[in-house]
Amino acid sequence: MNHLAPSILSADFTRLGEQLAAIDAAGAEYVHIDVMDGAFVPSISFGMPVIKSIRPCTSRVFDVHLMVEEPVRYVKEFADCGADIITVHAEACVHLDRTVEAIRELGLRPAVALNPATDLGVLDYILPKLDMVLVMLVNPGFGGQKLIPYTIGKIRELRHIVEKRGLATDIEVDGGVTLSNVAEILEAGANVIVSGSSVFKGDISENVEQFLKLMEG
Ligand code: DX5
Ligand code: ZN
Repeated sequence: MNHLAPSILSADFTRLGEQLAAIDAAGAEYVHIDVMDGAFVPSISFGMPVIKSIRPCTSRVFDVHLMVEEPVRYVKEFADCGADIITVHAEACVHLDRTVEAIRELGLRPAVALNPATDLGVLDYILPKLDMVLVMLVNPGFGGQKLIPYTIGKIRELRHIVEKRGLATDIEVDGGVTLSNVAEILEAGANVIVSGSSVFKGDISENVEQFLKLMEG
């Protein structure tokens, strides 16, 4: 099953509620929420108070992408703010298994993100415990970057591993996804598509509808 996850990092924050209503009405099933700590990535975005205040705006799945060092320190707080999926970076966790377990114990869906240059081998043991893997197609930290071409092969390789192991793990991709390259990304094996600038620049409803049309089936 394919899902679209618009990243609100590219939204107009003065009209966040309105824009959430627009992506919801146009049929996007996830809301991708990028939390940046200024340490794991250079930038600082937003955190718990923003997530808590937008939770009543939509009942769609809150897909919280933590670009944060040692996110295990905060998983309970993000659960309390209304996260449904919590994604942590393998590179940011000394105890990845413990972090994934903590997310599961809170009743949420755990996911692990990998930076472009991180080997898929780090997933060998943890993969069966995950609902989703997030393959970064750009170096995390900013919206509006260009996809790094070698990451397409990485999606393909991960899809092959998931199938060979008989798992149902979702494969999410994030960074540089546009209406022009989404078909190739889906074909490579991704099924959860994050898009920031390509959804929020221009007509939001029309952009969501166009993505969903390309993602049908
Ligand atoms: C980047 C974030 C992304 C970002 C994607 O570090 O994780 O979710 O918002 O933005 P676009 O789709 O514009 O590359
Ligand atoms: Zn993200």
